[in-house]
Amino acid sequence: MTRPTATAVPLHPVLAARWSTRAYDPEAELSDAALLALLEAARWAPSRSNSQPARFLVGRRGDATFTALLDALKPRNRQWAQHAAALLAGLAPLRDDGGEPATHASYDLGQAVAHLSVQATALGLSVRQMSGFSPDVLRQAFAVPDDHEAYVVVAVGRHGDPVTLAEEVRAKEAAPRARRLLAETVFASAWGSPLPAARPRQRDASPPSG
Ligand SMILES: Cc1cc2nc3c(=O)[nH]c(=O)nc-3n(C[C@H](O)[C@H](O)[C@H](O)COP(=O)(O)O)c2cc1C
Repeated sequence: MTRPTATAVPLHPVLAARWSTRAYDPEAELSDAALLALLEAARWAPSRSNSQPARFLVGRRGDATFTALLDALKPRNRQWAQHAAALLAGLAPLRDDGGEPATHASYDLGQAVAHLSVQATALGLSVRQMSGFSPDVLRQAFAVPDDHEAYVVVAVGRHGDPVTLAEEVRAKEAAPRARRLLAETVFASAWGSPLPAARPRQRDASPPSG
């Protein structure tokens, strides 16, 4: 399912098509080829000094890893994520190889997951990331070492029928996607001073004439 997105300028179709679904087809499976393509996209993401800190735990619906990842989710996420074809936990080290704090490891992990989600969209798959899980439950279930932290659980699958969702979740799923204006996000000259090119222009705001 596509959701038209009112971007300020046209984006690459894959980026414009990406959105985070909660409605997954409970019958659809993720092929090995598709799963590997997602993980390969994550592997080739840039990282600080090419340190490649991202680590993943991967479960497919029905296997023990999936069940343990599902158990670690907050109930509000578990309700819909149970139908995903796969759940992936994203982890990163707290210290670098020299024992110093790994200041950019979580940034690098986020970038790896972003690449994964774009690759998923290109394959016609849907992704929703979740911070709503218990890192402690996950640590226990998988014996995650103390020097690594789980930052996210990612649901992947084929988009399904929103009718399977609880009513309030279905309403959220149908709500228009929104973003803060670029001019409120992108500054130049001084903090808070919008980049001139990012300011909404009159001709963008007016309906086309003639
Ligand atoms: C780090 C992170 C944590 C998130 N945690 C949750 C979550 O626990 N539950 C959930 O339903 N969505 C979660 N989301 C999804 C966001 O709510 C979603 O990406 C955002 O509303 C923008 O929607 P879009 O991705 O469709 O543009 C999370 C996204 C990110 C990047």
